[in-house]
Amino acid sequence: MALDGTERIALRVGVRNETRPEKRTRPLSTPIDLRISVETALTQAMRALRLMSYEDHACDRDAFDERSFHVTAWHRDEPVGMVRITPGPPFALVDWSGGSFIPPVGADVELTRGIVHPECRRFGIYKFLMIESMLWVAGRGLESAVAAVNPDFQAKAFLSSLGFVDYGAPVLFDHYFFAQPIACVIGSRPQLWASLRAEHLARIGERGARISFGGGLDSRHGGAAMERRPSGS
Ligand SMILES: CC(C)(COP(=O)(O)OP(=O)(O)OC[C@H]1O[C@@H](n2cnc3c(N)ncnc32)[C@H](O)[C@@H]1OP(=O)(O)O)[C@@H](O)C(=O)NCCC(=O)NCCS
Repeated sequence: MALDGTERIALRVGVRNETRPEKRTRPLSTPIDLRISVETALTQAMRALRLMSYEDHACDRDAFDERSFHVTAWHRDEPVGMVRITPGPPFALVDWSGGSFIPPVGADVELTRGIVHPECRRFGIYKFLMIESMLWVAGRGLESAVAAVNPDFQAKAFLSSLGFVDYGAPVLFDHYFFAQPIACVIGSRPQLWASLRAEHLARIGERGARISFGGGLDSRHGGAAMERRPSGS
C-alpha cells in the first residue's frame, strides 16, 4: 500500500466513516446505573465505543493504548464513556502532529479520546470522567497534563474550570483534526477537583444516572493502585 497522507490516516487513527459501526438507536431507560473503573486493556466493546463515537471519523486502537489507562464508565456490561490517560512522553499528540506539537516542558501525562456513547450524552458523564481522570493523574504524582480539543469544543469552559489553558496555536493532527492544545499544571488543583467531583455526582443523580466505583481507582474510591510506566522510562 502506498503510504500517501490519506492512507496514513486510515492506518494510524482507524477506519474510514463507511466502515464504522452503526450507532444504536435503542434508548436507554433511566435511571442509568453507571460504574466507573480504570482499565489497562482496550477490550473489543471499548474499541467499538471508540469507533462509533466521533461524528466525522472512526478512531481505532493505536500503539498508545497498550501503555495507557482508560477511565471507563460502564452501564451494565457495556462501556458508555471513556477517557484515555497516557503517561509520557512519548505522546500521541506529538506523533499525530508529525512533531509540530511540542508539549510544555515537564508535561508527563496526556489525555485523549474522551468519548461518551451517543445515547448517554448530556448526563454529565464526560465531565465526571474528566474529573476522575485528573484526580487519578494527581494521585499518581504526575504533574502536568496535555490534551487537545476542537477550538469550539462544547465542554471547553468546563475544561477551563478544571485548570486547562490554551497552549500555543491550534495544530492539525493526523491531517484531519484541527485542535487547540491545552495544558494543566496539577499543583494544588486536586482540592478543587475533589469538590467538583462531589458537585457533579449530585448533578448526575439529578439527571437520572447513578454512579458506583469499580477497579483501578485509588484508595479514595476503594480500588487498587496500578503501575504502568511510559516506554523508555
Ligand atoms: C463531547 C462528549 C464527550 C461530551 O459527552 P457528555 O457526556 O455528553 O458531556 P457532559 O454531559 O459531561 O457535558 C459536558 C458539557 O459540555 C457541554 N455540552 C455537551 N454536549 C453539548 C451539546 N450537545 N450542546 C451544547 N453543550 C454541550 C455542556 O456545557 C455540558 O455541561 P452541562 O450539560 O452541565 O451544561 C460527547 O459529546 C462525545 O463523545 N462526542 C464525540 C467525541 C468527541 O468529540 N470528543 C471530544 C474530545 S476528543
